[in-house]
Amino acid sequence: MDEFSKNDIIEILKDDSKNDWLFSLADKIRKDYVGDNVHLRGLIEFSNICKRQCKYCGLRSEDKYIDRYRISKDDIISYAEHAANMGYKTIVLQSGEDEYYNTDLMCEIIKGIKNLGVALTLSIGEKTYDEYKAFKDAGADRYLIRIETTDRNLYKQMHPNMDFDNRVRCLKDLGRLGYEVGTGCLVGLPNQTIESLAEDILFFKEINADMVGIGPFIPHPHTPLKDEQTGSFTLALKVMALTRILLKDINIPATTAMETLNPNGRIIALQSGANVVMPNVTTTEYRAKYEIYPNKICINENPDKCRGCISAKIQSIGRTISTSQGFRVRK
Ligand code: 5AD
Ligand code: FES
Repeated sequence: MDEFSKNDIIEILKDDSKNDWLFSLADKIRKDYVGDNVHLRGLIEFSNICKRQCKYCGLRSEDKYIDRYRISKDDIISYAEHAANMGYKTIVLQSGEDEYYNTDLMCEIIKGIKNLGVALTLSIGEKTYDEYKAFKDAGADRYLIRIETTDRNLYKQMHPNMDFDNRVRCLKDLGRLGYEVGTGCLVGLPNQTIESLAEDILFFKEINADMVGIGPFIPHPHTPLKDEQTGSFTLALKVMALTRILLKDINIPATTAMETLNPNGRIIALQSGANVVMPNVTTTEYRAKYEIYPNKICINENPDKCRGCISAKIQSIGRTISTSQGFRVRK
């Protein structure tokens, strides 16, 4: 029943009459393969400076309105330390593609955080094999780099001066270097087809991703896509549920973008296949400035408030907060 072909996936994505069945099946597979524990990953968005021009993203280099910031090495490590003291077992470092943080500086930050005894995930974009190797040697455990879309034409339209094949190369290099590899896609980009979303899910399976993050596209007013339609929460949830059904034992976050479109979005996602949440652990001053898309949640909160808030919600649906580092356990 859960060995879906591409045609099955397309049919399920197109037909909303069986959504309840789909979400329950994904929830059951989540429970059978990864259990009731929810892994909390402490997210540090350490720079909103980016050299790229992704058409959908509010951090794109051409945006003149955004107030740019960089967090210093010492401050990054101290946010990580506070997060570890709060109970986080994984820290995620995310930024725009900002060359100020060169390989040596990144390695110092990685070592400083690894000294805290936590797992470390990087999400800092396309790098060379040698750079990925240096980060791995410095102690990084995991790497997130969404493919965004497997539709080559759409990829080209959305990412000026970027190359789909290089993105795939990054994913392959990361796997070869022994990282846990995370990828994912946007749902609802202009001109994105249901067929290509089915291809995205099959791509996650083909590269044997350890983590997959899926979120709806949310138009940012300062980008070329400002007048496009917002992606569908339900369709994003369905892509996520199908990813759980096909990849079974991987880690899947309930993404912040889901909660931006639905006030209960992360809890709904946790009940439809997700088993991870990534609360922000920086202080309030940076949160609003990391505006990938508008109306991001928690921008006026602090790290302690977010951990308490999401923990209470998770426990209210009968799930538990994991006390492990939450690596993928293959089954
Ligand atoms: N809406 C939703 N998600 C977005 N991302 C970037 N811009 C947007 C947007 N406008 C996602 C991309 C990226 C991740 C960090 O944020 O998928 O990989
Ligand atoms: Fe940040 Fe709820 S998770 S306030």
